Amino acid sequence: LTHLLSTDGLPRDVITQILDTASSFLEISDRDVKKVPLLRGKSVFNLFFENSTRTRTTFEIAAKRLSADVINLDVSRSSTAKGETLLDTIDNLVAMHADMFVVRHASSGAPYLITEHLHRVGRTDVHVVNAGDGRHAHPTQGLLDMYTIRHYKKDFSPLTVAIVGDILHSRVARSDIHALTTLGTGEIRAVGPQTLLPSAVESMGVRVCHDLADGLRDADVVIMLRLQNERMNGALLPSAGEYFRCYGLTPAMLALARPDAIVMHPGPMNRGVEIDSGVADGAQAVILPQVTFGIAVRMAVMSILAGN
Ligand code: CP
Repeated sequence: LTHLLSTDGLPRDVITQILDTASSFLEISDRDVKKVPLLRGKSVFNLFFENSTRTRTTFEIAAKRLSADVINLDVSRSSTAKGETLLDTIDNLVAMHADMFVVRHASSGAPYLITEHLHRVGRTDVHVVNAGDGRHAHPTQGLLDMYTIRHYKKDFSPLTVAIVGDILHSRVARSDIHALTTLGTGEIRAVGPQTLLPSAVESMGVRVCHDLADGLRDADVVIMLRLQNERMNGALLPSAGEYFRCYGLTPAMLALARPDAIVMHPGPMNRGVEIDSGVADGAQAVILPQVTFGIAVRMAVMSILAGN
């Protein structure tokens, strides 16, 4: 593995290797071993052209735990504001001896543009991790979601996983669906209004449910997604109250899922829009453990890319 751009096409054995490696990192952090030297002498550049709390911070923590030097480019103060192109920025950071780029960008495909450029200029030794590109993919979120599901449920084959909300604009949903399919998940459901479900979702082998109750019934795993207003380009949005009445996950709706169902959310949550606080803070929520697992999964991805 040279780059991690998507979970689409990522072989099952590679996903399993990443999850197993993350597991070993989590074990050593439980034994209070905070740092390992696997990326000593390497420079990891965090390039976040779009806002982030969890992904940027956990990539930084992960890289530091691998003993890498971490450089967070402050995009708002960078020369991007003076018109420097993405690829010129990359060339300059490569000239500063970057070994790995962690890239978040509002444009779908931006990390692909970077990898193609690096190959064109003969820098196949520099690795790229997609930290979320437009509505296309968020592979490390997909992988940490798989880690979370495996942690709580062990085997994917008997599971029913309901992904609920704005699937149309969600790079997380796409990355989850590809990884869940590769791992042999029993049933994957996409639950939401017609206007927020991509037409291609059925061809991905996913069962579509427009009714929340139908989508939740007997589910083992419920993955909630927020309305991604920033990607809706002025489309007519449902009001928060209207959306919550139809698709908000309340304790009463969650009771339709299996009693031992887990509730996940990639964050950020909009309480009272897609999820009620009674669920977000309830016993079935594993939303904060997802964040913790994200550190180990990102350590695993970076150390495998670096050839460890
Ligand atoms: N899940 C996720 O991508 O969160 P951030 O936008 O805070 O990184």
